[in-house]
Amino acid sequence: MSDPNRLRLGVNIDHVATLRNARGGAVPDPVRAALTAQEAGADGITAHLREDRRHIVDADIVRLMDAIAIPLNFEMAATDEMQAIALRHRPHAVCIVPERREERTTEGGLEVAADDNRLGAFVAPLRDAGARVSLFIAPDERQIAASARIGAAVVELHAGAYCDAVAEGRDDVAAAELARLTEGARLAVDAGLEVHAGHGITYDSVGPIASLPGVVELNIGHFLIGEAVFRGLPDALAEMRRLMDAARA
Ligand code: PXP
Repeated sequence: MSDPNRLRLGVNIDHVATLRNARGGAVPDPVRAALTAQEAGADGITAHLREDRRHIVDADIVRLMDAIAIPLNFEMAATDEMQAIALRHRPHAVCIVPERREERTTEGGLEVAADDNRLGAFVAPLRDAGARVSLFIAPDERQIAASARIGAAVVELHAGAYCDAVAEGRDDVAAAELARLTEGARLAVDAGLEVHAGHGITYDSVGPIASLPGVVELNIGHFLIGEAVFRGLPDALAEMRRLMDAARA
């Protein structure tokens, strides 16, 4: 029997594709990274097909769907183009994220509260097609309530502000951000939502996030792929797993 207290680890392989695209060829292959992560114990693979295709491209999604046995969490913006792609592939999960072309990464959470009518209509066909719909939001009461209202199954809480504060040694900010995440996770569980967390997580910040009551999944990419350059992906992932388990013990 699997341990119900065990936190799932989703590995985001976008930045293997970033490296590949820097030379425009076929290597390093993000699908090989996904298979390596699967072999090393990842519980899922996350890939973000951005509008500008700066890392993952359409063919990667086709190959990932074909190759991996663990669930694919397909990250995308709430656009008609992405909805059609998701409906064509029917991944296990769809995570809706805000997207701005000029940003380096997903900088903030999705504005659900002010856009609930449009987003509610947007997620309904995805849900009807069997995808677990997740919304990437700030740990904010309004966004959490709106996410539940429009019928999302999951919220992924944006951990970036906490992780940045840890990385920069701003302890007061880190404490305040961790309190927001703690309260956000509590409110989301009370609203009947499954709670995930992600963005910017490193070995230094994973422990407190893994300890948050109610959180069942972490999605981690950039740091793990960077660490894999030095110690290999299986070892980088095993260390993250060890820290997550230690935090939960
Ligand atoms: N979760 C979501 C919703 C994201 O958009 C990202 C970044 O693409 C991640 C998790 C992973 O963040 P990072 O690459 O900083 O670990």
